[in-house]
Amino acid sequence: MERRNFLRVSATSAMAVAIAPSLVTQRLYAEDGSLFQTFEKVQLKDTDGNPLKSASLAVEENYVFHYPHVSTPAIMVNLATPAQKDIKLKAEDGTEYIYRGGLGVNGTIVAYSAICPHQLTHPQPEMSMFQYVEEKGKTLAYDKGGVFVCSSHLSAFDAKEGGKVVGGPANEGLASIILEIDAEDNMWAVAVLGPVKFQDYFDAFKDEFKKFYGNRRKAKKLTKEEAKVQPLKNFSAELIQA
Ligand code: FES
Repeated sequence: MERRNFLRVSATSAMAVAIAPSLVTQRLYAEDGSLFQTFEKVQLKDTDGNPLKSASLAVEENYVFHYPHVSTPAIMVNLATPAQKDIKLKAEDGTEYIYRGGLGVNGTIVAYSAICPHQLTHPQPEMSMFQYVEEKGKTLAYDKGGVFVCSSHLSAFDAKEGGKVVGGPANEGLASIILEIDAEDNMWAVAVLGPVKFQDYFDAFKDEFKKFYGNRRKAKKLTKEEAKVQPLKNFSAELIQA
């Protein structure tokens, strides 16, 4: 099983802590309580319930799944070129954290929480205004593709640099979903790195949760054992990208 270490750096104490997510069974917190958190390890599966293999991912396709809560969307992309390694990022409150890079044989597989840090736009079954734009694609939010774009107010996030905000009104980057790939090429989600907006999200979309999950309490449940992965174009009836 691939095992990678992650580094937490606290801006307040300058103390660095190495973490091996696959060894961690309890929740762990960065010193501000939010920047790195392990959750139940869940296996990524296709919509037929078969284990998803990293080799099967189409290049630059948006794949959506829900993690770490059953209602919190994430998007995984097998990038055209490898993600960068050891990117130092900073949350809005100044806390620093380190993004270690992409997964897969070429380091091209990345996954991020698909909840825009600005005003929480996220993929919904009716439509999505949040998605990855391929490297050769065009967007009003940035001068090149290869970025996640929130078309609500044109924020852009660098897919290769840990979800760093590179354009628009968002004042911090996307949280990364930490994945593992085992010896059989099975994929697992194990943790979340970076600033999360989950509580704001749960507070903001009560009607949506009622419609799709029954109520907010059910929407807040943690994803257990497996997460179904599907192309965003199948999950959302309409994709809107500026
Ligand atoms: S909600 Fe995403 S840019 Fe405003």
